[in-house]
This record gives sequence, C-alpha cells and structure tokens, in this order.
Amino acid sequence: MKPKIFVARAVFPEVLARLEQHFEVESNQDDRIYTADELQAKAQGKVGLFTTPSEPVTAALFAANPQLKAVCNMAVGYNNIDVAAATRAGVMATNTPDVLNETTADFGWALMMAAARRITESEHFLRAGQWKKWSYDSFVGPDIHGATLGIIGMGRIGQAIARRSLGFDMQVLYHNRSRLAPEQEARANHARYVSKEDLLRQADHVVLVLPYSKDTHHTIGAAELALMKPTATLTNIARGGIVDDVALIAALREGRIAAAGVDVFENEPAFKPEFLDLSNVVLTPHIASASTPTRLAMANCAAGNLIAALSGQRPPNLLNPDVVKG
Ligand code: GLV
Repeated sequence: MKPKIFVARAVFPEVLARLEQHFEVESNQDDRIYTADELQAKAQGKVGLFTTPSEPVTAALFAANPQLKAVCNMAVGYNNIDVAAATRAGVMATNTPDVLNETTADFGWALMMAAARRITESEHFLRAGQWKKWSYDSFVGPDIHGATLGIIGMGRIGQAIARRSLGFDMQVLYHNRSRLAPEQEARANHARYVSKEDLLRQADHVVLVLPYSKDTHHTIGAAELALMKPTATLTNIARGGIVDDVALIAALREGRIAAAGVDVFENEPAFKPEFLDLSNVVLTPHIASASTPTRLAMANCAAGNLIAALSGQRPPNLLNPDVVKG
C-alpha cells in the first residue's frame, strides 16, 4: 500500500499526478482554507503533508498526528511551521529555497520601481479620467538610477536584488545577521555592510528580504521609519510582521517617507484597510514568486522533498537535520 499524504492546498495538476505515482493522495483541489482543527483532522492517518505559507503547522498538529513523518512547505519561508515542535516530534520539515531567487528579486525591483515612479497611482488617475494636461510636476518622484539601495536581509534573494542594481548604477548598502564573504559582496555589486540604522539613514530605496521570526518581528517600526529620508521608499517582499504596518501607514500618510511597495501584510490575507486610503503605496497580494515557471518549480521542489523524505532518503531541503541523525 502506498503511504498516505495530504496536499493542503490546490496545486498544479501535473505535480499532483507526480505525487499520485508515489502516494495515496488526498488533496484540497477546491482550495478551501482549513481551520487549525480541520487541518489537524485532515492529517489523521497521513505520513506526509504538502503545505503552503497559509497553513499554520503547529505543535498541536504534531501531537495529534504521531504517525506524521514529513511536512513539506511550498515556500522558501517556513515561519508557518513550528520547526522546533517538528523536530521534537521526529517530523522532517522542508522548504523550497533557490528556485524562486531570481523571480522574487525581479518582483522586488518591480515593486520598488512602481512605488518610486508612482506607477499604480498615476494609472489610477488616468483610468479615472482625471488626465487633462501634461504638467512639469505630475507624478514626480525619486530616481532609481544612481541612487543608494539598502537591502535588509542579504540572503540569496537579497544578493540577486543587489546584482540587478549594477545596471542602474546604484550603490548598495546591506544589513544582515552576518556579513557576507568579500567575494559575495563583490558579486552583489560591491555591497557594503552597515548597521541597520546607517542603512536606513543613507538609503534612497530600502528593500526588506529577511525571514520572519520572533527576532525579526517589527524590524521596521516607527523608530526605524523616522530614520529614513523623506524622499525614500520602503519595499517589503519578506513577510508580514517584519514591518509594523500601523507605523508604516502613519509614515506614509504624514509624508515622512515618499512611498512604499508592500507585498506581504501582518495577518494576511487580511490587511489594514487604511492602506487603501493612501495613494503613495503600491499593494500586491503576496505574489513575489508568482511567475508560472517559478511556482511550478516550487511545487516540484516541495513534491521532491516529500518523495525523498517518505522513501527513506534525506530530503534535499531539510530544515531540521537533527531528525535524521543517529
Ligand atoms: C513565499 O512567500 C515564500 O516564502 O516562498
């Protein structure tokens, strides 16, 4: 008999077909959002779960499902999984790094440029029939080329964003848990390591690409926004909760920074409705990795991890290697 798995959200049919070659698959192709209790019940009798960032995979779920062996997340971020509890329960947890680096970096640029150059704001103006004349100061904003780019979180995606800045003649500052090796800094358009405070004071465009954890909660709040230039932009493609959204709304409303691009929100898909009253913010629904090839690659990466984990191999993207030691 094939091992039983649960695919918690709708996924590409070809990926489901691939999983069906290996497993008895129950899947949520209707794409319902389950409560924690429902997910826990769906996990009953399953040895593997295929999840996305929307599903909280909790200590309670592990306790209620001692048969579980692997939880494979279709995302590079995995703050939805209690990895420490997975490790205690002997459950392998995996993510999908690398396959989304370039696509996510492209999107970070798109959002930053849209915010700085006021693209969605001016499109709304045009669509609303308000465009009556060309004016010297219509929708003027800061430049991108020649400016200073500040990247907080200089992992693989942050470095891919930095590399792209070479073509825009930018200087790059970064802040990260640890400093990169000199050759990595050189490849990242000669990025210079600085403190978070110096980065916020000096950068014209700040992009956030760091993982969410209790330590990175509200990395950007009122005090940090107060350090930024009034002409600067802030782009968050990392995770909701890294920015204090209430503080960001206040800073945007009062013009203390020029604009923001926000792809991720605290408590998403709910978000603070005050964002909608602001014209100087570009809002997108957590789509930074959403190119068709990349989403397919992410789904296949998660499937590959699940297939490896449940066939006695070490999954390529294991987050808690302690589970397989010994
Ligand atoms: C998406 O947000 C991811 O973490 O891959």
